[in-house]
Amino acid sequence: MIKIRKRITVNVIMSKMATKIKKTKNILVTGGAGFVGHHFVEHVLKNTDWNVRVLDSLNYAGNLNRIYEIKEFDPKRVVFVWHDLRAPIRGATKKLIGDIDYCVHFAGESHVDRSIEDSIPFVLTNVLGTANLLEYIKRNQPGCKTLIFSTDEVFGTAGNEVQYNEDSPFRPSNPYAASKAGGEMIAFSFAHTFKLPISIVRSMNIVGTRQHPEKFVPKTIRAIFKNEKVIIHGRNKNDLSLRHWIPAKNVAAGLMFLLDKAEPGQFYSISGEERSVLDVANILSEAIKKRPLKSGEIKFVEYETARPGHDKRYSLSGEKMARMGWEPPTNIDSYLREIATWTIKNPHWLQD
Ligand SMILES: NC(=O)c1ccc[n+]([C@@H]2O[C@H](COP(=O)([O-])OP(=O)(O)OC[C@H]3O[C@@H](n4cnc5c(N)ncnc54)[C@H](O)[C@@H]3O)[C@@H](O)[C@H]2O)c1
Repeated sequence: MIKIRKRITVNVIMSKMATKIKKTKNILVTGGAGFVGHHFVEHVLKNTDWNVRVLDSLNYAGNLNRIYEIKEFDPKRVVFVWHDLRAPIRGATKKLIGDIDYCVHFAGESHVDRSIEDSIPFVLTNVLGTANLLEYIKRNQPGCKTLIFSTDEVFGTAGNEVQYNEDSPFRPSNPYAASKAGGEMIAFSFAHTFKLPISIVRSMNIVGTRQHPEKFVPKTIRAIFKNEKVIIHGRNKNDLSLRHWIPAKNVAAGLMFLLDKAEPGQFYSISGEERSVLDVANILSEAIKKRPLKSGEIKFVEYETARPGHDKRYSLSGEKMARMGWEPPTNIDSYLREIATWTIKNPHWLQD
């Protein structure tokens, strides 16, 4: 009799432990209604059974329809938390977020041209907003593994042969980049001072579906579609802006990899493939019109006229992630073709 009772007790304890081990993870995605954030939410919904809390203030670039359009969207798994990170997270917002195992921080002011017009919203969201999020994590969820998403633009322009890496010095050359550098340094200081599991991840020129039409790829698709001139930064075909371009799908997969592998206080780069702005425009034109752009369809605009402080080239090494065993799931040219075809079928994403 005593033996049976003991066995039952042991079974109950074991089943409780199993439930604990099996507990579904919760992830907080700030800026999840934005372009990059929603691609990450899609990846989480497709590849895990985690619950997602999307925290977003829905500024001009935020749009919840991005999330509702995801095939795997399930209202039982996704909770939307309206909050502006320029204010601290308190009370009801805290309750809505609940316990979290992971956080990926995308919420930010993201458009360089806007930062040149007015830097203040950039400092408030990208620096103060990051500090408010990390204060919340420090006080309420200190075990939460957190990735702060940033940009290679913190290094400024890269000379022809230069490839920046995780340890390159900061030379942000526009207010957007400077505000991202500020957010990164707040994050690093929290990892160091409070021993929190926070890492910083940089990427660059991300492309994908449902991007805000003020950005280069949707703007170019729209111009090609409407038979308008495509604006290309550069003096002519031999003097063009060079960028590393990266599919949003690769960024999402890289971040998932880092949620598992990243070390606290470390920096990581999710890198892309180098193409000129004209190469990208030609790939989009080939997908839409079955031919590259003709010279009469292009309007070259000198860098400095287009944007004061314009950086001609950015370049970021992906060696550290490669050494860790990460492989990007897709390549840029085929992904650009996919974006063009999808966008032409979904033109509502080209409207301002
Ligand atoms: N797009 C790129 O190529 C790229 C490259 C490297 C890094 N990044 C970084 O990735 C992040 C997302 O970029 P994106 O292109 O998706 O930008 P986005 O503008 O499309 O999305 C930003 C999201 O953040 C939200 N947001 C803005 N201010 C907020 C605030 N104060 N509180 C809460 N939410 C706020 C917006 O509503 C929006 O949904 C940014 O931090 C950006 O710096 C982007």
